[in-house]
Order: sequence, then structure tokens, then C-alpha cells
Amino acid sequence: MMWHQPAFVLGGSGRAHLKVDGLSAGYGPMLVLRDLKLEARPGLTVILGPNGAGKTTLLRALNGLIPRSGDVLLDGDDLPEKTHEIVKAGVALVPEGRQLFPQMTVAENLELGAWLVDKGERAARLERAFDNFPKLRERAQQLAGTMSGGEQQMVAVARAMMCAPRLLMLDEPSLGLAPRMVDELLAIVRRIADSGTTVLVVEQNVRKALAVADRGYVLERGTVVASGPARLLARSTVVREAYLGAASSDTTTAASAAKQSGTVRAEPVEAARVVRPAPGERIN
Ligand SMILES: Nc1ncnc2c1ncn2[C@@H]1O[C@H](COP(=O)(O)OP(=O)(O)OP(=O)(O)O)[C@@H](O)[C@H]1O
Ligand SMILES: [Mg+2]
Repeated sequence: MMWHQPAFVLGGSGRAHLKVDGLSAGYGPMLVLRDLKLEARPGLTVILGPNGAGKTTLLRALNGLIPRSGDVLLDGDDLPEKTHEIVKAGVALVPEGRQLFPQMTVAENLELGAWLVDKGERAARLERAFDNFPKLRERAQQLAGTMSGGEQQMVAVARAMMCAPRLLMLDEPSLGLAPRMVDELLAIVRRIADSGTTVLVVEQNVRKALAVADRGYVLERGTVVASGPARLLARSTVVREAYLGAASSDTTTAASAAKQSGTVRAEPVEAARVVRPAPGERIN
């Protein structure tokens, strides 16, 4: 099965830059995110963090699905607060768990991703989506609910790309996928970023995500505890100890890891919160 194509023909033009400052959001009286500051520059930015850290809450707040306060600027303009206006501004979300319509065909699911544009443009985008994901063309009339998990995730990504987004956000797109499928999916996400759509992705495959990303943030309990270039973040003490299982037998001392980590900003992680990942690398 081959999903790869040389470049993505769908996607917004330009190199979008998202800037978040002082973002707070939560559910009713419960604040999950507090005074969050982060950026998604052109390229691929990954958000890591344990279960319950607020990663999904962040993407939901940015997508207008829950109220937020604070500054959110997309290329210097305030990001609207209502979801349909956010989509119009060029932001698409691949939600946690895909959320396809299982009783609708692949083609119908994709078309729903371009509900804001006229029929002719929608048809043109569907063609381009099939160029990007040839396997989906073969499966155009298959009911989405009968696709495999990996195939469904491809439909979800292709559907989001049907809005020709400037900024694509994905919430744990590789969840539940076999390792090879995870690699394929992350390669596609990388290619989307290289084709000019800024990407912000929440991932639990820490090592693989940091290998393809340009920059990363580690979120814990609603705040950023570390951030920096992906390559350096992968070597930082916070990430190594908490997420990559840098065992105590590792010869690298905390001091030398910190020295190696260069410009990575890291706040100390309490020992109690340092959790060894399972061999599968799933955080938590
Ligand atoms: N609809 C909701 N109502 C109330 N609380 C919620 C709701 N959704 C999430 N929360 C709470 O907000 C906090 C952050 O949840 P969130 O889903 O953002 O975490 P996450 O980082 O995405 O975790 P995971 O890695 O498990 O997906 C958790 O304490 C969670 O219980
Ligand atoms: Mg989540």
C-alpha cells in the first residue's frame, strides 16, 4: 500500500504563523490551560505531554469548539472565535478519533471537508485529494466505517486538506496504528508541512514525532514545561527522562544532557511526575 506522492497539491498558499499568548481555556469553571504561550511557525510543530495534560483541549480551543481567552494570532490577525469562521480563515482540525461518518462513502466524507466552497471547486479539490491519496480514489465508494484504522486516518487527513488549510492541526493521528502505518502517516504529515501548510500535531509517539518535527512543546497540567527545536528537545532532560525512558543506567548525566540540550527551555520535572513509557513509547 502506497500513500506517497511527490508533493501535496492541496493546501493553502503561504507560510502561516500561529502565535498564541496568554491562552486560557477549560470546561465550565475548570480551567485546563492557563496562560499558555506557544507558536506554530511554518513547518511542523509537535505537542507532547502525558494524558490529561490539555493537548486536546488546546486544539479544541484553537478550533473554536470551546471558549478561550488570550491572544491567538494567525499571521498577525486575531483568529476568529467561531469554528466556521476559523475554517474560513484557513485552519483545519483532524480531531481525536477521526470522527468520520461511517455510513457515508469515502468520497462523501471528503466532500464534507469542503462544504464552504462551491460545487465546482469542491469537485476539483476532490480530484486533488485523490491525487494526494491514490488509495482513496480506489476506495471512493467504500463506506468509511468499513475501512481499516489506518485507512480511516488517511480519510480524516484528506478530509481536513479539502479545506485547503493554511494551518492543519492533528490530534494524535497515529493513535492505534501499527508502527509502519505510523511512519507512513508521519511522513505524509511532514510532506504536508513541506508543501506550505503549517502543521501543529499532538503526538504520543514521542521519538518518531520528534524525528519528523521542526519544533516541539511539552505540555504538562495545562502549561508548557519545555520547548525548542525538535532535535534538541529529543535530547533534553525533560523529554529523555519522562518520555524516552532515559534509564538511570544511562551514562549521560542530567548535567551533560542539559548542556547538550542547547536552547531548549526546560523547567524541572518533579520526580513524581517522571513516568517511564511502555516499550511502545506511549506517554503515560
Ligand atoms: N468535556 C470535558 N468536560 C470536562 N473536563 C474535560 C472535558 N474534556 C477534557 N476534560 C478534562 O480536561 C483535562 C485535559 O484533557 P485533554 O483531553 O485536553 O487532555 P490530553 O492532553 O488531550 O490527554 P490525552 O493524551 O489522554 O488525549 C483532563 O483533566 C480532562 O479530564
Ligand atoms: Mg487528547
